[in-house]
Amino acid sequence: MNQRDVIIACDFSSAAATFEFLDRFTGRKPFVKIGMELYYAEGPSIVREIKARGHKIFLDLKLHDIPNTVKKAMAVLSHLDVDMCNLHAAGTIDMMRAALEGLTRPDGTRPLLIAVTQLTSTSEERMRRELLIDASINDTITHYASNAREAGLDGVVCSPLEAGMVKEACGKQFITVTPGVRFADGEVGDQVRVTTPARAREIGTDYIVVGRPITQAADPVAAYERCLKDFIG
Ligand code: C5P
Repeated sequence: MNQRDVIIACDFSSAAATFEFLDRFTGRKPFVKIGMELYYAEGPSIVREIKARGHKIFLDLKLHDIPNTVKKAMAVLSHLDVDMCNLHAAGTIDMMRAALEGLTRPDGTRPLLIAVTQLTSTSEERMRRELLIDASINDTITHYASNAREAGLDGVVCSPLEAGMVKEACGKQFITVTPGVRFADGEVGDQVRVTTPARAREIGTDYIVVGRPITQAADPVAAYERCLKDFIG
């Protein structure tokens, strides 16, 4: 059985705002996601500092380039000692294999490597018109997920509503990491296809990524505890 956890999307623009937020968590140290905004603002030191505070880290930089470049970039990231990182499956199986090679440390250990299939902001209509992809969005997602599995990756980022379909195509052990999570009584914001933590648990996803329902809550620690209770029990 895969591990399940709640990952907080730390979408802050500075280290100061991030630490002000993380300082509230005096008990259990949450698994956190560092995205492009914070990483590009603060550089690798933000990763080291959050790691030193005892958090697990998903470094969400979504690499996509030629295999050799991605391999070398992943080798650099492997020294940061993160727990999970990601790339775009659209970079091809060769690129994903190269990424795995780069990410694997000399002692054979490595962070989990997760692929982005189609971003949830890409509609089927845009895929057809702008990217000239005629397959349905669901077929594209399961095909990209199968490619990621073939390359030896650990899983994919997808909508919770797609997690069942991905598990069916790639097996139960293939990890799904799912954003688009909202409390039933909360604001949806700009997310379109959303699901509650309890429903995400029923669907069988492994990790939920939750940003604003926790970071913007009046009591973020209580919101995080609520997510844990609903998702993990
Ligand atoms: O605030 P919210 O809960 O919507 O945050 C979700 C997080 O997951 C954000 O960091 C967003 O960039 C990320 N994400 C997403 N949809 C994807 C991929 C990543 O919402 N398809």
